[in-house]
Amino acid sequence: MTLIAFYDGAENTTFNKWHHCLQAADPEFTLVPLMDKQADKAEIALVWNMPAGRLAELKQLKLICSLGQGVDHLWKDSQFPPSIPVIRLVDPNMSHALSQWVLAVLLDYLRDGPFYRTNQLKREFNKVPQRDTTGLNVAIYGIGAIGSVVAQNLQSLQFTVQGWAHSHKDKLSIKQAYGESGFQEMLAGNLVHICLLPLTSKTRGVFSRAAFEQMPKGAYFINAGRGDHVVEQDLLASIKASHLSGAALDVFRQEPLPASHPFWEEQRISIWPHVAAQTSPDTATAQIQQAIYDINSGNMPKNLVDRTREY
Ligand code: GLV
Repeated sequence: MTLIAFYDGAENTTFNKWHHCLQAADPEFTLVPLMDKQADKAEIALVWNMPAGRLAELKQLKLICSLGQGVDHLWKDSQFPPSIPVIRLVDPNMSHALSQWVLAVLLDYLRDGPFYRTNQLKREFNKVPQRDTTGLNVAIYGIGAIGSVVAQNLQSLQFTVQGWAHSHKDKLSIKQAYGESGFQEMLAGNLVHICLLPLTSKTRGVFSRAAFEQMPKGAYFINAGRGDHVVEQDLLASIKASHLSGAALDVFRQEPLPASHPFWEEQRISIWPHVAAQTSPDTATAQIQQAIYDINSGNMPKNLVDRTREY
């Protein structure tokens, strides 16, 4: 039997669904809630935003799996076990879902969806001239497992895509930029900016007033990375000053976004409740299963997190 401690922090927990999928994959897999006493003997932890200090109590732990693609939630635990291998989910279905979300919000903005929806409420059959978007310059910050899918899909729609990355991605036929100078170049040279970065101490707050000022007037900002990549009051100020034309946001510094948050009042911000790519046990189980087999046979699983890079 392989005991797996589970925590997703969700109001409607996905425990039963994961239990079902993991049992179907291998009847030896037994899921128990992380906070239950029986989880003390767990060898595997499958977690999202777990209470601090709990993983450190699991003395037989061999592998920690993030329940999402991001792993920044793990580092909030100051007692996070320092030497247990950690993996993040890399699920092609989630990458496609996220790419679809980016395309949906970008195309909706470019084809004036907000304008036409407002008119529909007023029963007004008015038009605005269609934008010419052929070759429009789009910047993607983060061109890993997800960003590369987004880049390819945008390219197929005739956008001119540029990617900012930690290192060169050979498989991608887009212009790539690196480091601080590359970041500045990307900000200045593109009209659409898509943040898909992992949240680390280096990327926290990178989209601040200075970054928004660097973008051309009328630029549009899309964030499916993390809320903490953005200085929210700077984004709002930039939109209110009509320097940026708007934003589509799936992630926020505080989630759920508080009812009193000024973003709710700004029509040019499209708000999504962290749904761009939801983790699906149906498609993610295979990766967890393989990672458990790998660790049990003394091999390192795929999609291992590099602790020095924080992702
Ligand atoms: C969602 O935000 C994830 O990290 O998968």
